[in-house]
Amino acid sequence: MSFQSLKPRIETILQQQNLPVDDRLQELCELLKETIPYYTWVGFYFKNGDKEELKLGPYAGEPTDHTIIPFGKGICGQVAVSNQNFVVPDVAAQDNYIACNIHVKAEIVVPLFINGENIGQIDIDSNTPDPFTQDDERFLEWVNEQVAEILR
Ligand code: SME
Repeated sequence: MSFQSLKPRIETILQQQNLPVDDRLQELCELLKETIPYYTWVGFYFKNGDKEELKLGPYAGEPTDHTIIPFGKGICGQVAVSNQNFVVPDVAAQDNYIACNIHVKAEIVVPLFINGENIGQIDIDSNTPDPFTQDDERFLEWVNEQVAEILR
């Protein structure tokens, strides 16, 4: 399934105004996990109120103990501070990394902005080594722009 062909399906999921936003995000996570073979775990983290920490939102994949991540900690916490995409081809080579699952080989985290403010992120873990390209970055940036529209 190409990223391009997934876009209309994602728009349809996000536009279900009869469903709570978290239910739509849950469906979105499940769609991405099920249709992109190297997306092993797909989830959203959001800034936790006024605190300098991220809180786990909707996700698809194995449950994680890391439901709260302080800013600066792990790949996710670093993206909360840097406002930049973080592509990790090999998690074993990262010092500041929070392991969720021993099978994870790679990770990509893309920040989610509303009116220029970094309010959260999409986080993808992969059990495949070095699977992410710039196409994933552009696609996930597009996904986050669509999500931002329903969070506004
Ligand atoms: N690996 C992440 C923690 C979140 S789990 O992947 C779900 C990190 O280093 O921030």
